[in-house]
Amino acid sequence: MNPSIRLRRFHPGDAPELFLLFRETVQTVNAADYSPQQIAAWASNSIDLAAWTARFSQRWAYVAVCNDRTVGFADMTPAGYLDRLFVSAHYQRQGVARALLQTLLEHAQSAQLSLVSTDASRTAVPFFQAFEFQIVRAQNVECRGEVLKNFHMTRSLGQPVLSPLARSE
Ligand SMILES: CC(C)(COP(=O)(O)OP(=O)(O)OC[C@H]1O[C@@H](n2cnc3c(N)ncnc32)[C@H](O)[C@@H]1OP(=O)(O)O)[C@@H](O)C(=O)NCCC(=O)NCCS
Repeated sequence: MNPSIRLRRFHPGDAPELFLLFRETVQTVNAADYSPQQIAAWASNSIDLAAWTARFSQRWAYVAVCNDRTVGFADMTPAGYLDRLFVSAHYQRQGVARALLQTLLEHAQSAQLSLVSTDASRTAVPFFQAFEFQIVRAQNVECRGEVLKNFHMTRSLGQPVLSPLARSE
């Protein structure tokens, strides 16, 4: 666990940098689990940045920072759907996603939700399983002309959220 990791709330001005981080993470980290064609479609530079940014609104959305560098981000809808969770290729396995998930689960619990869900990439399934998510079904999702396999997963909120990391707003 990297003790320098801090979380802060997402601001719309973060979006261009997060969009770059998203594309780089897909091109490097997810590339181990999907074909070059699938990766090109997923991280396409033709994605509409305005629409991608708008998806953050009305959500719990956080940015992870380590020594002034942006190292990850995540967002969850008020209904408990974890939409995006991406960590920089240079900061994998340092507890960044754990910190982001922890904070989103705390919001979901405060909102009295009983269940959260996500559609996890092949790459992310072991991470979510480590945090008690269960696979509900495998599914094939169309993405800009390519078909990508992912996994619908859910987690009950009846179980305790993990110990919190330091966070600044
Ligand atoms: C999945 C992802 C978000 C995990 O982020 P991370 O910051 O590296 O994960 P953490 O360091 O917080 O991992 C916490 C724990 O989860 C488990 N875990 C994480 N990645 C794992 C892996 N690849 N295999 C097995 N267990 C894993 C481990 O128990 C880990 O604890 P440990 O490192 O002490 O063993 C990251 O790999 C990523 O950005 N992947 C590409 C984007 C993606 O697929 N996002 C999902 C949206 S579709």
